[in-house]
Amino acid sequence: PILAVLASGRGTNLQSIIDAINRGQFSAEIGIVLTDKPHAGALERAAKAGIPSLCIDRSKYNTKEAFEKELLSVLKDYKVEHILLAGFMRILSPLFIREYKNRILNIHPALLPAFTGAHAHRDVLAYGVKISGCTVHFVDEGTDSGPIIIQAAVPVLDNDTEESLAERVLQQEHIIYPRAVGLYLNGSLEIKGRKVLLKE
Ligand code: GRF
Repeated sequence: PILAVLASGRGTNLQSIIDAINRGQFSAEIGIVLTDKPHAGALERAAKAGIPSLCIDRSKYNTKEAFEKELLSVLKDYKVEHILLAGFMRILSPLFIREYKNRILNIHPALLPAFTGAHAHRDVLAYGVKISGCTVHFVDEGTDSGPIIIQAAVPVLDNDTEESLAERVLQQEHIIYPRAVGLYLNGSLEIKGRKVLLKE
């Protein structure tokens, strides 16, 4: 299967997927890495791994529609069948999501459905919860609201900063994202309403 990975930043989750494929954890090809920002570290990681990459600079498009149209056209060019969002900091429109219905996965750095949105760690610390974690889920038309595939929990410590918490959560992200992608690509997941069931 041909995947696209969409990222906006450093791309450590992209790296965890590349590494998983290289060690044979599941079989897939990353056909293209796409970013919405020209300086995303994900571009360098792709280049290092010999994977085609492209920046579709959001700031060069007047509308979300035009931006997504370009995204979709590139995805088509590369015959992309499944999309992994890995720190992609844009909300995709329902129109886009319908084109890849139940074929887009995302990783979120909190235990959904709590602490959705772009500032999960900050919100977790402000609220004072004692446990946080990360969630891999299918992307539906809401924000961080699709059916949950895997979660992992980590403790929140009294002296945590956003950075220290992010670091602890990230270690788990790098384990569960490849695991979830493997289950998904193997056809082991069944979406039943809100729930994702693991097939025998
Ligand atoms: C991760 O914490 C991911 O869960 C969140 O953004 C961060 C991206 O990190 N959505 P990276 O670019 O994969 O290193």
